Amino acid sequence: MNVLFVSPEVNPLVRTGGLGDVVGSLPLALKKLGVDVRVVCPLHRSCKGIDAKVLRNQFKVKIGSQSILGSIHETRLGPSDVPAYLIDLPQFFDRDGIYADQGGDYRDNPQRTFALCQAALEVEFVTGWRPHIIHAHDWMAAPVCAYVNAMKSPRGKEPKIRSVLTIHNLQHQGVFSYKDFVTSGLPDSHWGADGFEKDGALNLLKGGIQHADKITTVSPTYASEIRTMEYGCGLEKSLQYRGADLVGILNGIDLDSWDPQKDNSLPQPFSLNRPKAGKEACKLALLNELKMDPSLNSPLFGVVSRLCGQKGLDLLTEILPQLMAETHASFAIVGSGEAHEEQAIRELSASFPHRIGSFIGFDDGLARRIFAGSDFFIMPSRFEPCGLAQQYAMRYGSLPIARKTGGLADTIVPISKGEKSPTGFLFDHASGKELWSSIKQALEVFANNRKFFQMRKNALLKTCGWDHAAEQYLQTYQWALEMD
Ligand code: GLC
Repeated sequence: MNVLFVSPEVNPLVRTGGLGDVVGSLPLALKKLGVDVRVVCPLHRSCKGIDAKVLRNQFKVKIGSQSILGSIHETRLGPSDVPAYLIDLPQFFDRDGIYADQGGDYRDNPQRTFALCQAALEVEFVTGWRPHIIHAHDWMAAPVCAYVNAMKSPRGKEPKIRSVLTIHNLQHQGVFSYKDFVTSGLPDSHWGADGFEKDGALNLLKGGIQHADKITTVSPTYASEIRTMEYGCGLEKSLQYRGADLVGILNGIDLDSWDPQKDNSLPQPFSLNRPKAGKEACKLALLNELKMDPSLNSPLFGVVSRLCGQKGLDLLTEILPQLMAETHASFAIVGSGEAHEEQAIRELSASFPHRIGSFIGFDDGLARRIFAGSDFFIMPSRFEPCGLAQQYAMRYGSLPIARKTGGLADTIVPISKGEKSPTGFLFDHASGKELWSSIKQALEVFANNRKFFQMRKNALLKTCGWDHAAEQYLQTYQWALEMD
C-alpha cells in the first residue's frame, strides 16, 4: 500500500511541536508493516542546506489567477529510507517561520496552504509514484482531502485516491474569508455548510473534516471529547456528523530517540531496570545546572511546556508561592510562549532561586535533562489531544501529574483508582486546588520509598512505542480503501 503524508512540519527536518514528532516517527513504524510511506512537507527556509536531490520534472500550482512553477527536492527522513519530498515554492515557503513570524501569522496562509495541497497531488506526476492514500495532518494540510475529491476521475483503471485526516489539535483551524477560498481553485460546490464554510468564514480544517474519507485524532478520549460543545471548538457538529468515520489512535513515542540508556544529553545514562544511581546523578546535575539547592531529599517537579492557556501552567504559578511556604518541593521549569506566563515564571524564579529553577525558551537537551532529573512531571492541560511530554517523562522515570483529559487520561494510570500498576496522578478539574491535592498525593508517595520506587518502575517499563498505533493506522487505511 502506498501512503503519502502531507504535513507543514516533519521532524527532524522542521519542527515546532508534537505534530512534527508524530509525522517524523509514525512513517518509520508503518514502513516496518510493509507500507510504502512517503512524506510531503514545504521546503521552509530552515530546511535549506539539507542534503537533497532536486527532481527534474517541475510542476505548477494555480493560486487565484496566478500560475506558479515549483520543484521537488527529495531527501530521506532522518537515518531511515523513508522518502521525504520538500516542496520548493520560494514565494510561499522561503521564510523565517512556518506559520508566522514576529509580525504575527502570515497573511497569505490560506494561499500557502492551497499551494502545499496542490503540490502534494503533483508528487505523483513528478515522481511517477502514485499513492493509494493521502494522509493529511492538521489544518494546513486538511484541504488536500477536498482537492482529492475535486480531481477528475482517474485515467484508466487506477482506483480513486482515498484520504485520511488526522487532527492533532482542534484549536487550530485556519480561519479566513470567502475571498481566500476563491483563490483555492476548488469548485464553488465545496463552499457551504457541508464544505469549507463555517459561520460565513473559510475554515480550512472544517473543509478537511467534511471531505476526508476517514478522520483520526490522537487519542481515544480526545476523539469523544471533540464531539462535545466543551471541547469541539465550534466544530462539534461537523465531527458528530462524521462520527462514524472518526477514530482515536493514541500516539506513541520514538523509543530510539527517547532512551535514557543512550541519551547523550544526560550527564549519566540509566537503565530502565536499575535507574536509581543514574536518576540521582541526573537530579543533582540538573539542580546544579539551574543553580538550585542540590538536595536529593526534596522532591523535584519538572515542567517542559509551551506556555499557553491550553497547557494550564497558570494553575501552577497560582499555587507556587503557597507550595514554597508549605512544602519542601522544588521545581525545574523550561518553556516559552505567552508573555504574561513567561513573566510569572521569571518572577517566581527570582523570588525563590534555590527552589524554582527556570529557563525561558526551548532547549531540547535541557528538556531531556528535566525528564531524567525530576521525580515528578507537571502537566495540568485544560485540553490535551494526546500529549507527548507525559510519555517522555514516564520513559525517563518521572511520574506525571496531569489533568484527566484527552491523551493524558489514556496514557497515565492514576494511583487514585487503586490500579495495579499506577504510573502517575490525575485530577478532574482545571483548578489550582485540584492540582494542589495531586501534588500533595505525590509528596506522600515520595515520602514512602517502596511505593515511589514501585511507581517509578511501572512508569519506566510502560511501553509506548509506535507499533500498536501503526497497526491501527493501517487498519484505518484499509477501511478507507474499502469505501464505495
Ligand atoms: C499537538 C497536541 C498534542 C499532541 C501533538 C501530536 O501538539 O497539542 O497533544 O500530542 O499534537 O499529535
